[in-house]
Amino acid sequence: MLKTVGKNEEEYYAILKNLIQKNLGFNSNQYKDSHFKRRIDVRLRATNAKTYKEYVELLQNDRNEYPVLMETLTVNVTNFFRNPEVYDIVEKEVLPALIKARSNGLRSIRIWSAGCSIGVEAYSIAMLLNHLLGDDFSKYSIKITGTDIDKDSLIKAQNGTYTDIEMKDVRPAFLKKYFTRDGNTYTISDELKKITQFKKQDLISGPKMSGFDAVFCRNVTIYFQKELQEQLYLDFYNALGKDGFFVMGKTETLIGPSKDKFKPYNSKERIYQK
Ligand SMILES: C[S@@+](CC[C@H](N)C(=O)[O-])C[C@H]1O[C@@H](n2cnc3c(N)ncnc32)[C@H](O)[C@@H]1O
Repeated sequence: MLKTVGKNEEEYYAILKNLIQKNLGFNSNQYKDSHFKRRIDVRLRATNAKTYKEYVELLQNDRNEYPVLMETLTVNVTNFFRNPEVYDIVEKEVLPALIKARSNGLRSIRIWSAGCSIGVEAYSIAMLLNHLLGDDFSKYSIKITGTDIDKDSLIKAQNGTYTDIEMKDVRPAFLKKYFTRDGNTYTISDELKKITQFKKQDLISGPKMSGFDAVFCRNVTIYFQKELQEQLYLDFYNALGKDGFFVMGKTETLIGPSKDKFKPYNSKERIYQK
């Protein structure tokens, strides 16, 4: 039990960060404080805790609060074809370029969805590749790897079952072709599940990845401290093969040494090329 007598709120905030690090393995120091406090405040309000002290006590007495807090901290809001204008370029230019570059030899295409949440980014790309390749789909060896720190999201990704909330930007033809509907839920087809895999990985402290033709990391780094963002963009650069693409979130900006290494491919849609 932690000693919690006579401390001020900032000290309780520090205790809270330690508890989070210890029990959730969530490296809070690498996230922006403003973001972190905003997310914790969501749980304070929801549990009627008036201070960090009250919330620390609640966490110490109720282990069930940890998974809920994790979900709140990781912000896994997402939907299929999020920012459709980006996917428009991905469909018309990025994926066709990859397909062309890989049309000989092993025909291998490797894509990484970093911070994949419940998997909809990975499956959006899978749908587009299947659609673009048509009958040639089975001639390619395609692997789309989704990684995230949040294991509950990864379980949902693996199950591939979604509700209306995530479906709003799925075009009707894709809905019909790639999903089985059961009441209000939609499950992605086995054909697309087969080319995806989901793994737990902490972008901050996990192993470095390599060998990808494209990396999508969207709406993830925005919550991180600047130095960490710079490091991650370099990691993504290194994870890519020659001419590989890096697709960022619409509200994120490429900073640090990788900015001089990547070539802008479509700056407006935040797409870069190695
Ligand atoms: C807002 S979602 C973005 C999902 C998807 N990329 C999109 O754009 O819709 C952010 C995801 O980043 C994940 N995340 C946060 N910190 C992470 C870390 N250190 N390592 C891996 N994933 C992380 C969260 O768990 C969450 O699922």
